[in-house]
Amino acid sequence: MAPKVLIKMEDDQPNGALCIVADERPTKAARPLPPEDGYPATGELIGTSPEFDVQDTERAIEAAEEAFKTFRTKTGRERSNILRKWYDLCVENAEDLAKLITWENGKPIADAKGEAAYAASFFQWFSEEAPRIYGDTISSSVPGNRVFTIKEPVGVCGLITPWNFPAAMITRKIGPALAAGCTVVCKAPGETPFTSLAIAELGQRAGVPKGVVNIVTALDNTPALGELLTTNATIRKISFTGSTGVGKLLMKQSSSTLKKLSLELGGNAPFIVFDDADVDAAVAGAIASKFRSSGQTCVCANRIFVQKGVYDEFAQKFAEKVKAFKVGNGFSEGITHGPLIHGRAISKVDEHVRDAEKKGAKIVVGGQKMPDLGDNFYKPTVLTGMTSKMAMATEETFGPVAGLFPFETEDEVVKIANSTEVGLAGYFFSRDLERIYRVAEHLEVGMVGVNTGIISDVAAPFGGVKESGFGREGSLYGISEYQVTKTVTFGGMGKALQGK
Ligand code: SIN
Repeated sequence: MAPKVLIKMEDDQPNGALCIVADERPTKAARPLPPEDGYPATGELIGTSPEFDVQDTERAIEAAEEAFKTFRTKTGRERSNILRKWYDLCVENAEDLAKLITWENGKPIADAKGEAAYAASFFQWFSEEAPRIYGDTISSSVPGNRVFTIKEPVGVCGLITPWNFPAAMITRKIGPALAAGCTVVCKAPGETPFTSLAIAELGQRAGVPKGVVNIVTALDNTPALGELLTTNATIRKISFTGSTGVGKLLMKQSSSTLKKLSLELGGNAPFIVFDDADVDAAVAGAIASKFRSSGQTCVCANRIFVQKGVYDEFAQKFAEKVKAFKVGNGFSEGITHGPLIHGRAISKVDEHVRDAEKKGAKIVVGGQKMPDLGDNFYKPTVLTGMTSKMAMATEETFGPVAGLFPFETEDEVVKIANSTEVGLAGYFFSRDLERIYRVAEHLEVGMVGVNTGIISDVAAPFGGVKESGFGREGSLYGISEYQVTKTVTFGGMGKALQGK
């Protein structure tokens, strides 16, 4: 039985950050959630959050605009101290954050704890970047001119985050934004608002000044709030993680005011196992990559290509591992994989399996819904004999289904791997050093995992190419997405010393 949680937002402080208080009663604005928006394992209601509308969100933008005037003048060290405190509080409250993540996303509690730590790491990382913001001094090509640059915060940022990592996707955006000196209005995911609100509450305790971080929650009003954030002239930057379709719409809308953009969009990651790979390591890597969060991440392996010489061995060992998964309620002991987020996700996964089966794939493990566990459970599935005619070859499944495609040559598999409009992550396993360089350089993706199925790391730049979007999150590059470079040119310099 999922514990009940009711949280309401109060915005009655003048020009204040929208603040969250625990409450025993639903608020007037609370929207009763339909069953599929409750705890994904059971469908039961775990709480309600307000449905913010355009006027509410305009007030949040005004609060962020007002706060920007002073927040931008804080030193990097002052901003660093706030972020560091926020990191400490996230670590201290990691157990509670993990519970919230499991309640609203459904992932097993062990994975949720991993996410809470991953999320906190973005505050730690960017607390370390904030005091180290440097411009350049540049040799001018004009005699007598001296040129230098200043890195300035871009301004008020609109952040739009997804439900699959309710904590980590919001901290990965707020961390660098605040480190750079920006203020933010964050549209929390409609399916998973509580984790965002809890993180914001910890931010208040850490001393984030009022108006610097504003969270708006909505489900039905999501398109209207997305339109507002992308067209309001006060917002100078949009950072979005989500589908390519929505990313394109937000980019189009942002063109009316030419906002700076970071878009981390859908993937269709190839995972390639060459004949010369360590097969056991490749199986472990594929399990980690394909079934992380039950397949619901943008960087999950979506097409697993296995070279003919090791295909049968790989398929057999991989299927054994998948059979051993323990699927169930994420709060129960020993559960390795939880439910999917909602019924629409289940339908899509099942459509992909049925389509592959109809076109000749063999179901080696799984292949069905698990109604005995609940409406949102799908049996982790392994399919062999996949071909390019099947939907899974071109569409992101976003669920616990692994299709194994056989291939013959390196040239052939890299061509197939690249034959998609998107390019977020790609993985391959090989022990041939020359091949490792060749293939890593030829894959059309933003991130390559070589002999590993997990590439997510606060220190490593995260982002894609092609229709997976642009911009990099985390890492040394993450902060520049929230900065503009101002050039200052001094004329009349370089004269001889005066007084001769
Ligand atoms: C995502 O699915 O967009 C993020 C996954 C990650 O950071 O590993």
